[in-house]
Amino acid sequence: MSTNSTISKNFTRLENILIIGNGGRENSLAWIIQKNKLVKNVYLIPGNAGSERINKCQRIEIDINNKNEFVEKMMLLKIDLVVIGPEIPLANGLADFLRGKNFKVFGPGKDGAKLEYSKSWAKEFMQDANIPTANFWTVNSLEEAKKIINTSSIPLVVKADGLASGKGVFIPDSKDECFRATESIFNGKFGKSGDVVVLEEKIQGPEVSVFALCDGDNYVLLPTAQDHKRLNEKDTGPNTGGMGAYSPAPLISKEMLKTIVKGIIEPTINELNKKNIDYRGVIYFGLMITKSGPKVIEYNCRFGDPECQTIMPLMDQNFVFLLEKCSMGNLTGDEKIDISDKVSGCVIATSKGYPNEYKTGFPIKIGNIDSSNCQIFDSGTCFNKRGDLLTNGGRVLSIVCQDEDFDKVFNKAYKNLKEINFKGIYFRSDIGHQVRKNFAEEK
Ligand code: AMP
Ligand code: GLY
Repeated sequence: MSTNSTISKNFTRLENILIIGNGGRENSLAWIIQKNKLVKNVYLIPGNAGSERINKCQRIEIDINNKNEFVEKMMLLKIDLVVIGPEIPLANGLADFLRGKNFKVFGPGKDGAKLEYSKSWAKEFMQDANIPTANFWTVNSLEEAKKIINTSSIPLVVKADGLASGKGVFIPDSKDECFRATESIFNGKFGKSGDVVVLEEKIQGPEVSVFALCDGDNYVLLPTAQDHKRLNEKDTGPNTGGMGAYSPAPLISKEMLKTIVKGIIEPTINELNKKNIDYRGVIYFGLMITKSGPKVIEYNCRFGDPECQTIMPLMDQNFVFLLEKCSMGNLTGDEKIDISDKVSGCVIATSKGYPNEYKTGFPIKIGNIDSSNCQIFDSGTCFNKRGDLLTNGGRVLSIVCQDEDFDKVFNKAYKNLKEINFKGIYFRSDIGHQVRKNFAEEK
């Protein structure tokens, strides 16, 4: 898949890059961005302890909601490009605000972020554009929901309309459970995000994440990835933000990708245009490959985590140019990205109890890591006063490796995991089971 890079540089300054966010995703973006020679400094607001291990990276302590102080600091640092990682600042219009101050920003405005922050809006958007997705009903009250649940002859999925940190989707096994999930949302489990509920037809098939970098008109695709959303082995247990991933997803053949591009990606971008939405950022297509073809499960207005940590090591130092081109609206769509011939995999080490309650503040011990084509991106860590590395989140570390096949990738990742320890460490041992030829023998 390796091609010569023809991403041309337009001689704009690209010395100082600011990344907003504090996860493994943002650290992997910082890591690939700093590889470019033009980049002198990468600032993260707020970043985490692991950001400080990345070349050229510094963390800035500042409240981005204090707009005057924030903009003053950005001018002082001569920020050339802002990359916004998480959905919440995008949904709050941070990209619009910064563009209004003449900064170049990678990340959609509030109008584009609605693809993620309102599931009902996204479903109507897909309906308008004839994009394949599960049938749905938007409901505003428990009474309305009850009628649909009681008369439905198909299994339903229940979703809070707004942002819910990946916890707003329920996959009930019975009508009673379906009703209880809907009731819990309307009773305020997710605050205002649950004022509206989307009931969806339950569809089946493997899932895949597809990422399109978009400048408002044109787009380029990144390698596909497969996430592992469930907490436990054999894809059981509650949904999480993601316990591991691999890329590319062999499930997506060239033919299948063409179907996805023609039936889903291009119609999405055309519909954004039709709705006058100048989308400059990444569109994350969460797809399910059903018997009747690929269908959109959800859109996100940001990179996936841990898909981003998995994909970034396959990119080269020109990646930052793509982000800049998106921010400037001058992507041609013909850019040939240098993508490594290797494959990549990521395993997430979490705190016991995640995605529900968990404790933080445990010292992290890292032993003898094989660092050739392996990265450790911190997802949730901090330092104590003595400078010891401590756990500081549900997802703590992303262990990422690349190699010529997935067996080698995951052998290395799990070997490295043996060298990592903290109280309550938990990870799935079957990440990539779909693509590890030796998986059955290893078990
Ligand atoms: P979402 O946050 O919308 O991606 O949903 C989280 C997970 O719930 C997805 O990755 C799927 O595994 C599952 N899911 C969501 N919608 C559906 C659906 N309509 N049918 C079956 N599974 C679904
Ligand atoms: N890995 C799934 C997500 O970022 O939403």
